[in-house]
Amino acid sequence: MPVINYVEFNGTEHSVEVAEGVSLMQGALDNMIEGIAAECGGCCVCCTCHCMIDPQWAEATGTAGQEESELLEFLDTREDTSRLSCQIKVTAAMDGMLVRLPESQY
Ligand code: FES
Repeated sequence: MPVINYVEFNGTEHSVEVAEGVSLMQGALDNMIEGIAAECGGCCVCCTCHCMIDPQWAEATGTAGQEESELLEFLDTREDTSRLSCQIKVTAAMDGMLVRLPESQY
Protein backbone atom coordinates (compact mmCIF):
# COMPACT_ATOMS: atom_id res chain seq x y z
CA MET A 1 0.00 0.00 0.00
CA PRO A 2 1.27 3.52 -0.73
CA VAL A 3 2.58 5.44 2.28
CA ILE A 4 1.33 9.01 2.63
CA ASN A 5 3.14 11.44 4.91
CA TYR A 6 0.69 13.91 6.42
CA VAL A 7 2.26 16.86 8.23
CA GLU A 8 0.09 18.83 10.65
CA PHE A 9 0.52 22.61 10.89
CA ASN A 10 2.49 22.17 14.12
CA GLY A 11 4.96 19.92 12.33
CA THR A 12 3.70 16.60 13.65
CA GLU A 13 4.22 14.04 10.90
CA HIS A 14 2.16 10.92 10.32
CA SER A 15 3.35 8.27 7.87
CA VAL A 16 0.44 5.98 7.15
CA GLU A 17 -0.53 3.43 4.55
CA VAL A 18 -3.52 4.39 2.44
CA ALA A 19 -5.00 1.93 -0.04
CA GLU A 20 -5.06 2.84 -3.70
CA GLY A 21 -8.39 4.33 -4.70
CA VAL A 22 -9.05 5.79 -1.25
CA SER A 23 -9.07 9.60 -1.03
CA LEU A 24 -6.38 11.52 0.83
CA MET A 25 -9.20 12.89 2.98
CA GLN A 26 -10.42 9.43 3.95
CA GLY A 27 -6.86 8.28 4.59
CA ALA A 28 -6.44 11.09 7.11
CA LEU A 29 -9.77 10.40 8.82
CA ASP A 30 -9.17 6.64 9.00
CA ASN A 31 -5.87 7.28 10.74
CA MET A 32 -7.30 9.91 13.11
CA ILE A 33 -4.97 12.62 11.81
CA GLU A 34 -5.78 16.09 13.12
CA GLY A 35 -6.32 18.87 10.59
CA ILE A 36 -8.94 17.49 8.20
CA ALA A 37 -12.55 18.20 9.09
CA ALA A 38 -14.27 16.96 5.91
CA GLU A 39 -17.68 18.25 6.93
CA CYS A 40 -19.38 17.33 3.66
CA GLY A 41 -18.00 13.82 3.69
CA GLY A 42 -16.17 14.20 0.41
CA CYS A 43 -18.88 15.73 -1.76
CA CYS A 44 -16.69 18.69 -2.78
CA VAL A 45 -18.90 21.36 -1.26
CA CYS A 46 -17.36 22.33 2.11
CA CYS A 47 -13.64 23.12 1.61
CA THR A 48 -12.80 21.71 5.06
CA CYS A 49 -10.45 19.06 3.67
CA HIS A 50 -7.92 21.58 2.40
CA CYS A 51 -4.33 20.37 2.10
CA MET A 52 -1.13 21.47 0.40
CA ILE A 53 0.69 18.94 -1.73
CA ASP A 54 4.48 19.14 -1.53
CA PRO A 55 5.51 20.71 -4.88
CA GLN A 56 7.60 17.73 -5.95
CA TRP A 57 4.50 15.53 -5.72
CA ALA A 58 2.09 17.87 -7.47
CA GLU A 59 2.45 16.04 -10.76
CA ALA A 60 1.40 12.75 -9.16
CA THR A 61 -1.87 14.25 -7.97
CA GLY A 62 -2.77 15.96 -11.24
CA THR A 63 -4.68 19.23 -11.26
CA ALA A 64 -7.88 20.33 -9.57
CA GLY A 65 -11.09 20.08 -11.54
CA GLN A 66 -13.26 23.13 -12.17
CA GLU A 67 -15.57 22.57 -9.21
CA GLU A 68 -12.63 22.04 -6.85
CA SER A 69 -10.77 25.07 -8.23
CA GLU A 70 -13.79 27.30 -7.66
CA LEU A 71 -14.04 26.18 -4.04
CA LEU A 72 -10.32 26.66 -3.43
CA GLU A 73 -10.66 30.31 -4.45
CA PHE A 74 -12.63 30.93 -1.25
CA LEU A 75 -9.68 29.99 0.94
CA ASP A 76 -7.50 32.77 2.38
CA THR A 77 -4.84 30.17 3.10
CA ARG A 78 -4.67 28.87 -0.46
CA GLU A 79 -1.21 28.07 -1.81
CA ASP A 80 -0.02 27.13 -5.29
CA THR A 81 -0.34 23.42 -4.55
CA SER A 82 -3.52 23.63 -2.47
CA ARG A 83 -6.04 20.88 -3.11
CA LEU A 84 -9.17 19.47 -1.56
CA SER A 85 -8.04 16.14 -0.21
CA CYS A 86 -11.39 14.48 -0.88
CA GLN A 87 -10.80 14.95 -4.59
CA ILE A 88 -7.49 13.07 -4.74
CA LYS A 89 -7.55 9.29 -4.96
CA VAL A 90 -4.35 7.63 -3.83
CA THR A 91 -2.34 5.80 -6.49
CA ALA A 92 0.87 3.78 -6.39
CA ALA A 93 2.66 6.82 -7.84
CA MET A 94 1.94 8.69 -4.58
CA ASP A 95 3.96 6.31 -2.42
CA GLY A 96 6.01 8.54 -0.09
CA MET A 97 4.06 11.71 -0.89
CA LEU A 98 4.20 14.65 1.53
CA VAL A 99 0.91 16.41 2.29
CA ARG A 100 0.83 19.46 4.57
CA LEU A 101 -2.29 20.41 6.49
CA PRO A 102 -3.34 24.00 7.22
CA GLU A 103 -3.56 25.59 10.68
CA SER A 104 -7.31 25.59 10.46
CA GLN A 105 -10.04 24.43 8.08
CA TYR A 106 -12.04 27.67 8.45
S1 FES B 1 -14.72 16.94 2.36
FE1 FES B 1 -15.93 18.63 1.80
S2 FES B 1 -14.91 19.46 0.08
FE2 FES B 1 -13.70 17.77 0.66
